[in-house]
Amino acid sequence: MSAHDLDIPRLRAEAAAILRENDLGAGYTIPTKGLYPFQWNWDSCLVALGLAVVDEDRAFREIETLVAHQWDDGMIPHIVFHADAQSYFPGPDVWGTGRATPTSGITQPPVLAWCLRRLYEGAADRAAAGARVKALLPKVAAWHRWFREARDPDGTGLVAILHPWESGRDNAIDWDAALDRVPTEGVGDYVRRDTAHVDAAQRPTKAEYDRYLWLLKRFRALGWDNAALHAASPFKVVDPGFNAILIRSAEDLAALADALDEPAIAAEADAQAQRGRAALAGLWREDLEQYAPFDRTTGASVASASLGGLLPLFALAPGDPKASALVRRLDDLADRTAYPVPSHDPADPRFDRLRYWRGPIWLVTNRMIVDGLARHGEAKRATALARACLGLVARSGFGEYFDPLDGRALGGGRFSWTAAMVLDLSR
Ligand code: DGY
Repeated sequence: MSAHDLDIPRLRAEAAAILRENDLGAGYTIPTKGLYPFQWNWDSCLVALGLAVVDEDRAFREIETLVAHQWDDGMIPHIVFHADAQSYFPGPDVWGTGRATPTSGITQPPVLAWCLRRLYEGAADRAAAGARVKALLPKVAAWHRWFREARDPDGTGLVAILHPWESGRDNAIDWDAALDRVPTEGVGDYVRRDTAHVDAAQRPTKAEYDRYLWLLKRFRALGWDNAALHAASPFKVVDPGFNAILIRSAEDLAALADALDEPAIAAEADAQAQRGRAALAGLWREDLEQYAPFDRTTGASVASASLGGLLPLFALAPGDPKASALVRRLDDLADRTAYPVPSHDPADPRFDRLRYWRGPIWLVTNRMIVDGLARHGEAKRATALARACLGLVARSGFGEYFDPLDGRALGGGRFSWTAAMVLDLSR
């Protein structure tokens, strides 16, 4: 199908229907039925961008429902288990965080403030949106402060993830070496549910799941005390993608706080963004011509040419020469894939076109790259990538992720954030 044949109204109607289907009627949207039956942190924030196109009030509610489950220390957890569901593992009993409404005990990429700024600036009713955003600002600021304290205790300007699930890119090649060092003793028997919904070839391996669970149990044994987790975790990786998201969100939090007359929050967020941006420069790898993770346990850079090292496009100050280098990398990847942007460089022998974050393309990260391209004056490239995303969904459906070589849909079906990105990208 050529881009000209795209039936946008039909695509948008289908996207809106998916968001309605996955709305459980309690102020949150599940990512997809069966595979992910609860509220996920970054899913909900990104889904709000799509909801905003059809129902502004409901978009804010999605975020307010999530933020209502913020921990006292400021962390906003990665899953909120609002209601029972047996189709997912590990459920609330495994996490054991002891909260009235159970949650997981780790976090996820902080896209919240980036999304909130888009909601606020696009709102038909600015005054109503302003009041709701203003009420959320201290909570977002507390979450960002929590990142500095709990995940950057030495004040480097960059935060570490302590569990691959925190990155949102669970089984990225970026984590392989660090994950290999995580033991598996005492994990015991367990039954995965994800592979009952999705072909195992498209999901993380058992070896990875064993380590995901070992880390979970270790943190649980420490009473989910975030003051202790950073020192205790054998897995501590600084992800340029995750940090880029935090830096960009800090910038957007500062802009919102400025617009809504919260000068103290604005100053704190602006300082965090500037400090993060300066520190990010240390993650650049000349040999890969992009950013790469840093393993805080070994003190070494990780040679992994993944999508995480391209996401800084979204956070670099306009005019930064590294942005042009990232655009060249994106052009090069586009030349080598039928559908951009793969989650890992196909030239790497570890690339896997089907397996979750080891090769497939994701509309949510593409959305961030579209934003990054536009931010750096690459409007034509941004529009082309947005059209490619819409064309892909029109051709293959609302998959969770897609094969970058032939465009087939992978993972869960009728996926909320894919639907939300279609609504947002076709605005
Ligand atoms: C999963 O279960 O696959 C999730 O990505 C963890 O949040």
